[in-house]
Amino acid sequence: MDSAAEDPIARFEAWMAEAAKTEPNDPNAVCLATSTPDGRPSARMVLLKGVDHDRPGGGFVFYTNLESRKGGELQANPQAALCFHWKTLQRSVRVEGAVEPVSDAEADAYYASRARGSRIGAWASRQSRPLEGRWALEKAVAEYTVKFGIGEIPRPPHWSGFRLLPRRIEFWRDMPFRLHDRQVFHRVDGGAGDSFEGWRLEALYP
Ligand SMILES: Cc1cc2nc3c(=O)[nH]c(=O)nc-3n(C[C@H](O)[C@H](O)[C@H](O)COP(=O)(O)O)c2cc1C
Repeated sequence: MDSAAEDPIARFEAWMAEAAKTEPNDPNAVCLATSTPDGRPSARMVLLKGVDHDRPGGGFVFYTNLESRKGGELQANPQAALCFHWKTLQRSVRVEGAVEPVSDAEADAYYASRARGSRIGAWASRQSRPLEGRWALEKAVAEYTVKFGIGEIPRPPHWSGFRLLPRRIEFWRDMPFRLHDRQVFHRVDGGAGDSFEGWRLEALYP
């Protein structure tokens, strides 16, 4: 087994690098599933904006509006799942675990890297709430464009990111006759149940 096969984060990054060469756009697009505390799930696409390899056990970072449907669900029930599918590679990766907010400094740094129009959009969009008409969104964009002028645009208090701390990472590869290859990495914790010790690899029937 090569080292990338033993470390799921390294293997994920290797797959993502391949996908970046072959996918027509957004290789980092991923379906994010969340749920209400009473078990009603919902799913939507987001863009993966960071993978931690320096943090024990790794982490998967995405950004959103904290007052959106997903934002509310993640704050009420901080558990989530991600599902990547790269059609050009015929591969998929599933990640499950608890989520935690990213630090303000981390969110500020990412927000500052975004295009000016996207930073204004984050102020103007009341994500997931009813929209009276397209004009209402355009009016809000115009108002924030005037408000901020050519000055700095601070990160809105309702806009930040989450880090999913993986408990389970599955790598799926298409194989002939639907006899696909499935390899699952399970996080192994120490005695207290909260210290990362490593990964246990398991194969699953397709
Ligand atoms: C490819 C793709 C990438 C997206 N990336 C993001 C993202 O990074 N953050 C985000 O809040 N919404 C993103 N969206 C929009 C979401 O899918 C969704 O419409 C929005 O976040 C509202 O979801 P919610 O009502 O469940 O909170 C993306 C949509 C697509 C199709």
